[in-house]
Amino acid sequence: MPPADIGGTTVSATSSVVTLNINGEKHTLPVDNRTTLLDALRERLDLTGTKKGCDQGQCGACTVLVDGRRTVACLQLAVAAENREITTIEGVAGPDGELHPVQEAFVELDGYQCGYCTPGQICSALAVIEEHAAGWPSAATGDVRPEAGPQPLTPEEIRERMSGNLCRCGAYVSIVQAVAHAAAHAADDAKETVA
Ligand code: FES
Ligand code: FES
Repeated sequence: MPPADIGGTTVSATSSVVTLNINGEKHTLPVDNRTTLLDALRERLDLTGTKKGCDQGQCGACTVLVDGRRTVACLQLAVAAENREITTIEGVAGPDGELHPVQEAFVELDGYQCGYCTPGQICSALAVIEEHAAGWPSAATGDVRPEAGPQPLTPEEIRERMSGNLCRCGAYVSIVQAVAHAAAHAADDAKETVA
């Protein structure tokens, strides 16, 4: 296919113009088709809150939410994320900059040391809390029969569900406490909403 000029940018068979919906804002940009979502975020859009650790899907530092599901952005092509709802750490706080309860829990309970893994940990924790509240089992769930009802989000459950997010500082004890604290907060909020 011959190169085409789109908005002053030459686009060829190996590049595309994509529209990424990030934190509620649309960004249209030309990308090489091989560009990962991680590189598009960091290198093209200056959204450097999402971190690059291993760049091969093994550390979780680049975790973002795509349509509410955890995704390692280093293994996702930007072109495959077109028109999907992407949430990065920059979109987690409230509109006036107030911290999300998960962020507050990480701060209050020292769920980090150097902080490099923290954006990925927080994005992952957001999904963990939702997945657990929705009744999704994990490999650590003892009884997965529907009649057993919701299982508690124990430290063992949190460790299993967060196991894709590595922390080189070894802040795991505090991270587990922070996720448990935020999950309890979310459960209380849900009860108040029902009552
Ligand atoms: S940078 Fe993506 S999983 Fe490590
Ligand atoms: S806080 Fe340093 S890598 Fe996790």
